[in-house]
Amino acid sequence: MPTPLPLWRGRCLDVELRCWRLPDAVGDVERDLLSQDERERAAGFKLERRRVEYVASRAYLRRALADVLGVVPWSIPISPDDAGKPQHAGGMQFNLSHSANAVLIGWGARPLGVDLEASQRKTEHVARMRIVAEVRDAASVSAIGAFTLAEAASKAIGRGLVAVRGLRLEKVVRQGEIEFLSGTQRIRANVLAVPDSYVAAVAVLD
Ligand SMILES: CC(C)(COP(=O)(O)OP(=O)(O)OC[C@H]1O[C@@H](n2cnc3c(N)ncnc32)[C@H](O)[C@@H]1OP(=O)(O)O)[C@@H](O)C(=O)NCCC(=O)NCCS
Repeated sequence: MPTPLPLWRGRCLDVELRCWRLPDAVGDVERDLLSQDERERAAGFKLERRRVEYVASRAYLRRALADVLGVVPWSIPISPDDAGKPQHAGGMQFNLSHSANAVLIGWGARPLGVDLEASQRKTEHVARMRIVAEVRDAASVSAIGAFTLAEAASKAIGRGLVAVRGLRLEKVVRQGEIEFLSGTQRIRANVLAVPDSYVAAVAVLD
């Protein structure tokens, strides 16, 4: 079965990007694309919506990577590293983010992170984060745009919230594109031109 048409597609910072709308339900067609570990994890979710989100997202991810690698989707060796970031055993880099009934998937040669948020998401809480306020003011982006840049950068590093706290804004390259530092690690991040109801960013380790 061919991969359904994406809601949005693009390429940024040498990362291939696709955003798909998530379905209301999933069935054997999607589950059959997953690995045994993923099927077991999906079966353990209490919330049906979380199960649909997880199964549909992994199905899109596996279809996309299978097209690039020339293999069948369920055979791709993907497992979480010690911080929970899913990794491809063959070295292909990817990341995904789901929000508001959509999933954003990116893949490329360098370690990367993506973040997708609903543009209507309330920002009072995130705007209080030091790095978000700093990026918003320096890069002339919205608070939610700044949040996606910081989240994508922390997901590229792959250490969760610990990484967000360690991020420093290095420079604004141009409107929507910035560089972070985390220790001596440089991370490039860019806002993505996804459809209006979403805000998204991609980040790559330099
Ligand atoms: C996972 C996390 C980074 C982002 O989650 P989020 O913003 O709620 O959700 P998103 O939809 O943007 O991303 C979730 C996806 O990111 C991926 N992911 C999981 N862990 C990740 C990590 N450490 N780094 C990057 N990506 C990660 C997964 O594909 C996950 O989707 P899945 O559960 O369906 O497979 C966040 O939940 C987090 O910080 N978790 C804690 C990680 C952590 O601190 N670990 C401790 C060891 S240092």
